[in-house]
Amino acid sequence: MKVTIVGAGNVGATCADVISYRGIASEVVLVDIKEGFAEGKAMDIMQCATTTVFNTQLSGTTGDYSKTAGSDVVVITSGIPRKPGMTREELIGINAGIVKSVADNVLTHSPNAIIVVVSNPMDTMTYLTLKATGLPKHRVIGMGGALDSSRFKYFLSKALDKPANDVQGMVIGGHGDTTMIPLTRLASYNGVPVSNFLSQAELDKVAADTMVGGATLTGLLGTSAWYAPGASVAYLVDSILNDQKRMIPCSVFLEGEYGQEDICMGVPCIIGKNGVEKIVDVQLNDAEKALFAKSADAVRNMNADLKS
Ligand code: NAI
Repeated sequence: MKVTIVGAGNVGATCADVISYRGIASEVVLVDIKEGFAEGKAMDIMQCATTTVFNTQLSGTTGDYSKTAGSDVVVITSGIPRKPGMTREELIGINAGIVKSVADNVLTHSPNAIIVVVSNPMDTMTYLTLKATGLPKHRVIGMGGALDSSRFKYFLSKALDKPANDVQGMVIGGHGDTTMIPLTRLASYNGVPVSNFLSQAELDKVAADTMVGGATLTGLLGTSAWYAPGASVAYLVDSILNDQKRMIPCSVFLEGEYGQEDICMGVPCIIGKNGVEKIVDVQLNDAEKALFAKSADAVRNMNADLKS
């Protein structure tokens, strides 16, 4: 099983590292635009093979897409961060150009690949990838909900003072700190609703901490995070390549599900060898439905910047 990761920066390289040491794929190709960068990252990770003990073969290339031929999954993490003075429209314009050309290049050599979009603004970049490539919707998956849900479970486990792996919960909606929706009502500790253990004020704090989870890390690190994002992409890729059929909130094209159309947003999906195998229809209450509709408005606003 072969995976291409475009963008050998913090998230892309971490994802390659996790995929390798967990043996998720037999081959990983890193691609970057910076001369020698992907080659260097691949070599560095390969030199862990005898100490973290893995057999995955990694290689890197500066933009030679022929090396990515026959990939089963392609992850797109290439993009630039917003710079001082840059408008949101300018950022979207630049990243849209990068994502579109990368998608064209990878599909030339891997016409059957499933594409995982990570570059921000992720819901808009996922929508663009789907529209620009004309791929069927089950083959274009935006990664955001896996990360936001892992942060949600982290904050829940801290509030509960219980191991994170005993906590269940998910975040749907847009992948942004004002658009994501941590579903506290449905979160549980080993199947028991967390409202049995935490007050509404504590649950509200968990939700608020989750929503600014990325910004908190950017404040601490001086740049956006990469360990949890990289691991979340690897988790999603594992579910595809190894047909795990995990239920993971992903940004996917909606055609009436959750009351929305012509938009990519985070909803729970069964992810397997065909990509998005099913969108799971979770019954939301009225308050959650209203939050989802508001989140969709914000994502749609962002998508409108693609056209300007
Ligand atoms: P980074 O700056 O460390 O890496 C980006 C890499 O993309 C750089 O090495 C750059 O040279 C490369 N690149 C730029 N244009 C390219 C092109 N045309 N072809 C090939 N490579 C190209 O950034 P980082 O931290 O790895 O983040 C990557 C993206 O992922 C950003 O857009 C970031 O906002 C997003 N992100 C999304 C998350 C999510 O949950 N969806 C979570 C974390 C980051």
